[in-house]
Amino acid sequence: MTTIVFLGFGNVNFHLINTLYKHNKDSVIQVYNRSEINLNKELSKIPFTTDLSKIKEADLYIIGIPDDAIAAFSETLPLKNKLVVHTSGSVSMEALSKRNRKGVFYPLQTFSKNREVNFNTIPICIEAKEEADLELLTNLGNSLSEKVVEIDSDERSKLHLAAVFVNNFVNHLYAIGDDILGNNELSFDLLHPLIEETASKVKTLSPSEVQTGPARRGDQKTIEKHLHLLKEGPESELYQQLTESLMKKFDR
Ligand SMILES: NC(=O)c1ccc[n+]([C@@H]2O[C@H](COP(=O)([O-])OP(=O)(O)OC[C@H]3O[C@@H](n4cnc5c(N)ncnc54)[C@H](OP(=O)(O)O)[C@@H]3O)[C@@H](O)[C@H]2O)c1
Repeated sequence: MTTIVFLGFGNVNFHLINTLYKHNKDSVIQVYNRSEINLNKELSKIPFTTDLSKIKEADLYIIGIPDDAIAAFSETLPLKNKLVVHTSGSVSMEALSKRNRKGVFYPLQTFSKNREVNFNTIPICIEAKEEADLELLTNLGNSLSEKVVEIDSDERSKLHLAAVFVNNFVNHLYAIGDDILGNNELSFDLLHPLIEETASKVKTLSPSEVQTGPARRGDQKTIEKHLHLLKEGPESELYQQLTESLMKKFDR
C-alpha cells in the first residue's frame, strides 16, 4: 500500500482524497493546507496540519495548489529524496525542487469541489524520473482509473493547451450563450441536447468533419444578422474572430 500526504486542499486534491480514502482509508495518512480547512464528516479522521514541519513520512507527496505557486512551495518542503509530485497540466516536472524525487500525477478533467467526479474514465497522465517512481504512480493511477498514460512535460503542456480550447474556451462560449438566452428570458436548458450531441459526435467522428453553422457554409447574410444582434462589444469581436478562423479553415 502506498502512503500519501496531500499538500493543499483545492479542487483536485479534494476529489483525489475523497476517492482514495473511500477505496483505502489507510493510504491517505495526512492532509496539509496552509490555512485551516473544514474536512467533511467522511474525512474527519484524517490527520490534518497547517504546519509544514509536522508533515509525516510517506511514500508519496501530492502537491495540489495553483500552478504559479508550485515551484516555490516545493522548495519549502522539509523533505529529502522523497517522491513529490504535482497535479498540473502546464507546469513542467522540472519546476519541482531538486531536493526530492520529482513526478507528475495529472488527472485530465475539470474539477470543482461541489461537483462529483468519477475517476474511472479520467485519463491520469504520469511522469517521473525513476522507474520505481513511475511504477508507484502507475499503480496509484490504476487504482483510480482505467486509463493511465505516461506523458512527458513537453507533451503534457500541449495536451493542456488543447484542453484549454476544448474545455475552458468552450465553457466560456456556453456562458455567452447563457447570457444571450437569459437576456431574452429563454432557458439555457433548451441548448442541453445540442451541447450533448456536439460532445457526443466527436467521440466517433473528427471535429472538422462534423462542423456546421453559418461560417462553415459561408452564409454572410446570417453572419451579418448575428453581428447586428450582438452590437459592438467583446462578444461581437469574439464572434468575428471565430467566424474568420472557421472560414479560413473551410476555405470560404
Ligand atoms: N481544477 C481543475 O479542474 C484542475 C484539473 C486538472 C489539474 N489541475 C491542477 O491541479 C492543481 C490544483 O488545482 P486546483 O483547482 O485544485 O487548485 P485550487 O483549488 O485553486 O487550490 C487551492 C489550494 O491551494 C492552496 N494554495 C494557494 N496558493 C498557495 C500558496 N501560494 N502556497 C501554498 N498553498 C497555496 C490553497 O490554500 P488556502 O486554502 O490556504 O488558500 C488551497 O488549498 C493546479 O496545478 C491545477 O493546474 C486543476
